[in-house]
Amino acid sequence: FTKANLSHSFIYLFIFFFTDAESAEGKYAQKLFSDLFENYTNALRPVEDTDKAMNVTLQITLSQIKDMDERNQILTAYLWIRQIWYDAYLIWDKDEYDGLDSIRIPSNLVWRPDIVLYNKADDEFTGPADTNVVLRYDGQITWDAPAITKSSCVVDVAYFPFDDQQCNLTFGSWTYNGNQVDIINGMDSGDLSDFVENVEWEVHGMPAVKNVIMYGCCSEPYPDVTYTLLLKRRSSFYIFNLLIPCVMISFLAPLGFYLPADSGEKVSLGVTVLLALTVFQLMVAESMPPSESVPLIGKYYIATMTMITASTALTIFIMNIHHCGPEAKPVPQWAKVVILEYMSKIFFVYEIGENCTSPQRTKEKHSEKHKKDEEIYLETEGHKKSQSNGCDKCVLKELNGQSRGGSEDKHGKSEKNDLCFCLHHERMAKNIDYIATCFREQKASSAKGTEWKKVAKVMDRFFMWVFFIMVFFMSILIIGKAV
Ligand SMILES: *[C@@H]1O[C@H](CO)[C@@H](O)[C@H](O)[C@H]1NC(C)=O
Ligand SMILES: *[C@@H]1O[C@H](CO)[C@@H](O)[C@H](O)[C@H]1NC(C)=O
Ligand SMILES: *[C@@H]1O[C@H](CO)[C@@H](O)[C@H](O)[C@H]1NC(C)=O
Repeated sequence: FTKANLSHSFIYLFIFFFTDAESAEGKYAQKLFSDLFENYTNALRPVEDTDKAMNVTLQITLSQIKDMDERNQILTAYLWIRQIWYDAYLIWDKDEYDGLDSIRIPSNLVWRPDIVLYNKADDEFTGPADTNVVLRYDGQITWDAPAITKSSCVVDVAYFPFDDQQCNLTFGSWTYNGNQVDIINGMDSGDLSDFVENVEWEVHGMPAVKNVIMYGCCSEPYPDVTYTLLLKRRSSFYIFNLLIPCVMISFLAPLGFYLPADSGEKVSLGVTVLLALTVFQLMVAESMPPSESVPLIGKYYIATMTMITASTALTIFIMNIHHCGPEAKPVPQWAKVVILEYMSKIFFVYEIGENCTSPQRTKEKHSEKHKKDEEIYLETEGHKKSQSNGCDKCVLKELNGQSRGGSEDKHGKSEKNDLCFCLHHERMAKNIDYIATCFREQKASSAKGTEWKKVAKVMDRFFMWVFFIMVFFMSILIIGKAV
């Protein structure tokens, strides 16, 4: 033998040995399979003693929450369901089969426990997929199957969008009772180690509880395992899209009172805000189940809308007061005292149109103007008096002239001139008097209108602060619920 030959023969030996071993294992597996399944039926519960219960260990891994439909109360989850049980007829001595200790075979060949999700909410029946099972020499069968489950889940949206939900997933055997198939918790909670984070829900655990229910009719116990999925909603999406716009819009509503009455926009601002809130409210109502418990955010919308309706109605009343005009009755005494005296000071309302200049100066100007008016008035009064005195003289002179006849012509002419002037003057004085009276009346009535306007303004200011405080407290309340 040469060295090369030797190494060659080694390689041949190697190859021969390994192909032989592989073919041997394949052969043994074939033999094992035919031996095991020669007289096996997958229809019957594989126990030696039919009086003994068969233990099925159930273990759930939550992989993903696909959807939570609040309106239809359905939770769609992606689960891995592991079931482990012992089959009394699928046992072999591994030494007889060349140390073969486990085989993987399609799961529909062996008996499977009919464990189903009790609170299923699916239209069509879809059990776990027909994946392979792992069969061990001592009869242990491990069946891992993925499943997309749609389970009914009672969603309580009372605290939406700051709510927690609990969804139960109840697994149990559909036909076997507890004396035939007993379910055992593999772990005391669902496995979350492979969970893919959900954008809307935080998972706070999935504890498992085994319940045994005795139905009235029969003495057999019916065991089930209930996994409770504890969910907490991530509310930032709703805070940014539903809450903050609503808070901002509702802060606009009290400003409607601050809008000048003559702009004619006061009512339309209120109505616009109301419509905007209605849109938000519809958005919330659409995604909620039509249940009795109104979500927190819905309550906030309703409260805000009520408030804005009230503010718009009040605006309409105040507009009426503002446009009372000169024909109206004068402002009642109590209103003068309460509103014009005290409230105007509390809310810093001085005069109409004080928005544009500093209130102090307008006040001075106004009083100065008043003084001047009074001076003019006094002067005219004084003038009238002196005039009337003068005219009395005139009339006297006239009478004198007539009695004396046309004696002194020159003198008489001048007297006549004086007389004409006097009469002229008198008529003019009367006219001026009339104009002054008219003017005074007009001023008085416009002062009355101004007074009503001021009442309206003070009330506007009062309600503005009242509604600001209400909006503020409501926003604080709802944000307090969030924290
Ligand atoms: C299967 O059943 C037949 C007939 O009853 C019997 O002869 C045979 O030994 C059984 N095979 C095994 C592996 O038990
Ligand atoms: C099932 O488990 C119970 C205890 O959990 C045990 O007593 C019983 O023997 C087990 N049954 C079988 C068939 O292994
Ligand atoms: C969910 O299951 C737990 C444990 O069995 C139970 O206490 C709870 O009432 C169930 N919740 C619902 C909504 O059925």
